[in-house]
Amino acid sequence: MVRYILYLTVIIILVVVIIYFFPKKEYASDDATLARGKTLFAKHCVSCHGLQEDGIGPPLGGITKLLSKKALVSFISNSSKVIES
Ligand code: HEC
Repeated sequence: MVRYILYLTVIIILVVVIIYFFPKKEYASDDATLARGKTLFAKHCVSCHGLQEDGIGPPLGGITKLLSKKALVSFISNSSKVIES
C-alpha cells in the first residue's frame, strides 16, 4: 500500500514537471505548416504586405508578437471589412 502511494506520487510529480516544461506552443512551427503559410502568404498577402517594409498595408514581420492569436485570426477573417471602412 505504501509502495503504491509512493509510485502514484512519483507519477503525479512527473506529469506536473512534464506539463510545466513542455507548454503547448501557440503556433505550429513544423516544416509542413510553415511551407503552407509561406505559400498562402505569397498568394494572398504579399501584394499588400512585406515582412519588414511598408507596402499598401503595414509590415507583418513579428506581427505575432504585437497582436494576440485571437486578434490576428479575427482580423484576418474580417480584414476586407476592416480595410473597406
Ligand atoms: C488589398 C491589400 C491587402 C491584402 C491583399 C492583405 N492586406 Fe492585410 N492590411 C492591408 C491594409 C491596408 C492594412 C491596414 C489596415 C488598417 O490598419 O486599418 C492591413 C492590415 C493588416 C493587419 C493588421 C496589422 C496591424 O499592425 O494592425 C494584419 C494582421 C494583416 N493585414 C494581415 C494580412 C494577411 C495575413 C493577409 C493575407 C491573407 C493580408 N493582410 C492581405 C491590406 C491588405
